[in-house]
Amino acid sequence: MSDRRISGFKPTGPLQLGNYAGAIRPLVLGQDRPTVAFVADLHALTVPHDPERLRALTLQVAGLLLASGLDPRRTILYRQSDLAAHYELHYLLECAASYGEVHRMIQFKEKGGGSGTRLSLLTYPVLMAADILLHDIAEVPVGRDQRQHVELTRDLALRFNERHGPVFTVPRATHPAIAARLGDLADPTAKMGKTNAATNGVLFLLDPPDVLRRKIMRAVTDAGTEVAYDPERKPGVSNLLELLATCTNGRPEQLAPDYPRYGALKTAVADAVIALLEPIQRRYHELGTDDIEQALAQGAEQAAERADATVRRVKAAMGLTSGRPAPSSTPETPRTAPARH
Ligand code: TYM
Repeated sequence: MSDRRISGFKPTGPLQLGNYAGAIRPLVLGQDRPTVAFVADLHALTVPHDPERLRALTLQVAGLLLASGLDPRRTILYRQSDLAAHYELHYLLECAASYGEVHRMIQFKEKGGGSGTRLSLLTYPVLMAADILLHDIAEVPVGRDQRQHVELTRDLALRFNERHGPVFTVPRATHPAIAARLGDLADPTAKMGKTNAATNGVLFLLDPPDVLRRKIMRAVTDAGTEVAYDPERKPGVSNLLELLATCTNGRPEQLAPDYPRYGALKTAVADAVIALLEPIQRRYHELGTDDIEQALAQGAEQAAERADATVRRVKAAMGLTSGRPAPSSTPETPRTAPARH
């Protein structure tokens, strides 16, 4: 049985600490198992976008994944749009999905609705299912906000298998024990996000140390003075404790008694975040564009073989091919989308 893992990152903004805590760190720590990571650039097309910014952010996201410890010798890292199989399986899975089930998805409810809304904002959860199902995935390490998407992926895989036979591995989502939904420092009940309108509560992985410290020292805290881990009644302080625990491999409830006051906790969080990000930023700045492009090209080549085989299996199961095995005299080379220059 597969024990492969996958996670994707949408280049709609610069990566932030929520991305790190929710997905990058678990992905990096589990690389002893077969792991796939990709920059979900097709997902960034679901809202108005600037092509040059998208290109730059795609490279930045890939570079930060490498700098965070993703090892391209062990882990496949690629750019989603380089793999033709994503577009193909997306359509084929749309034929297993219903309008009602994608219409209920949170992103569409939050951002969609107007007549100018891109149709892809409605259908992208099916693309996400295709991203996962292409690779025979057992586990999807993601933040809690992605749970609904992985549930849809499971539903589609089970439905497809029931209709057409056992074609897909059925994956499950996994979340880190802490910081599965890191809060915005300026509004801890909201999620820290790379596209949040106000950025004073968002810790970007490439923020300089003085900016990180300023944002943390200004973080919203709660009534009272006691440092305690109680996400219900003390969301601000609990969020800071989760951040500290993520950076130091600790447990929020065990860290709390070490800090007599909010100020001391904030100073410790700032020190820990800066210490965590300093080597990541240094490695990122040492990487050249060519290094990143090379890793992505190699990853796309490695990913194509399995992904293409999945598409062939799906097409055969759906009645789209003759049903006969491909002639052995024409060995198929993996297809990646045409290279961009
Ligand atoms: P994206 O780019 O919004 O986020 C990337 C990852 O970071 C996690 N995350 C967080 N975790 C904890 N706290 C937060 N504040 C926080 N903010 C973000 C997300 O949960 C995610 O794991 N649709 C996906 C990208 C995607 C994908 C996939 C993921 C496309 N195809 C297939 C897994 C498998 C997205 O928009 O993630």
